Amino acid sequence: MAAAEEELALGFQRRFLAARPLRSFPWPELEQKLKTSSDSSLLVDILHKTILHPLCVKYPSSVKYRRGFLTELIKKHESTTAEPLDELYDTLADILNKEESTHCYKNYLLPTGESVTLSENVAIISRGTTGLVTWDAALHLAEWAIENSTVFSNRTVLELGSGIGFTGIAISKTCNPKAYIFSDYHHCVLKQLTENICLNGFVLEPETTNHIEMQSQGQKVEVMNYQKPKLTVAELDWGSVTEKQLMDLQPDVIIAADVVYDPEITLALIGMLQKLSTYRADGKPPEVYIAFTVRNPDTYHQFKAELDKIGIGWQIIPAHRNSIFLYDLHSNVTILQLLI
Ligand SMILES: C[S@@+](CC[C@H](N)C(=O)[O-])C[C@H]1O[C@@H](n2cnc3c(N)ncnc32)[C@H](O)[C@@H]1O
Repeated sequence: MAAAEEELALGFQRRFLAARPLRSFPWPELEQKLKTSSDSSLLVDILHKTILHPLCVKYPSSVKYRRGFLTELIKKHESTTAEPLDELYDTLADILNKEESTHCYKNYLLPTGESVTLSENVAIISRGTTGLVTWDAALHLAEWAIENSTVFSNRTVLELGSGIGFTGIAISKTCNPKAYIFSDYHHCVLKQLTENICLNGFVLEPETTNHIEMQSQGQKVEVMNYQKPKLTVAELDWGSVTEKQLMDLQPDVIIAADVVYDPEITLALIGMLQKLSTYRADGKPPEVYIAFTVRNPDTYHQFKAELDKIGIGWQIIPAHRNSIFLYDLHSNVTILQLLI
């Protein structure tokens, strides 16, 4: 297959595995190629790189999504003069027999060749939370982190409002942190987050301790668990965090994605960041990076005004270069560094 066709098929693969919106696929380029080609090998290749890809077979996207994608692919095929392709229709028949579920999988391909597989909810709000899906700010923050991995390398990272874990799992797989503390406060989100971390091959540490202590000939010995990074999931509510929790955390870097959308919880978030800076054993404040989707400019301005009011400095981080996860370019995401 020609290099340009291979690249086109890979573009379909990357978008399909992460279940990006169908309108974001390079359909016009595909139509163009089909017009000039007399065989169906490109379509077969796309089918095997998407719905029949081993990752999607093991961890499938939603039935609705697969059905919509395949219907579109069949339309493109039918608009050509090529012979009917049984494999397309057999695959569609197979999907039409499947039942819809409230959960689906998404597989995000990392530049290292690895992937992040997440079990997500099909609805953007469910069980009273927005935390059961991955938001564009999480993809944006992970892209920035991958390009700036030295910020995370060998450091303890605390993520606030982790949701179901995309950013943290991507950073843990690519940026070599010493320890990564995921956190959230919603019970269902914490459960799904924990399952996703394990699904990606990590073993979680107990929440409060990163090592096991043993008695040996009267001496205390620390038996370290050598999995790197050490991953923990903490139940952390910004509005009611305790002194003990803050003392235990000791992060070098704090990150969060899409946590500024409600003025009430914004104040709790800022209050918690302020406290975190004062609980560092070495007196060195952590670096803080918050990724926003600016949906309502008033909320964004209010957040910055609150920071100004209590003397927390902030600066906008320059945009990174590469789009790895192909989120919607119109989603207007910005990363702020807070100087706490
Ligand atoms: C829009 S979701 C973003 C999830 C994830 N960071 C992402 O971008 O995909 C907001 C997250 O913040 C969490 N959250 C909201 N208020 C919180 C609070 N007071 N304490 C801790 N987490 C909170 C929610 O449970 C949810 O997981």
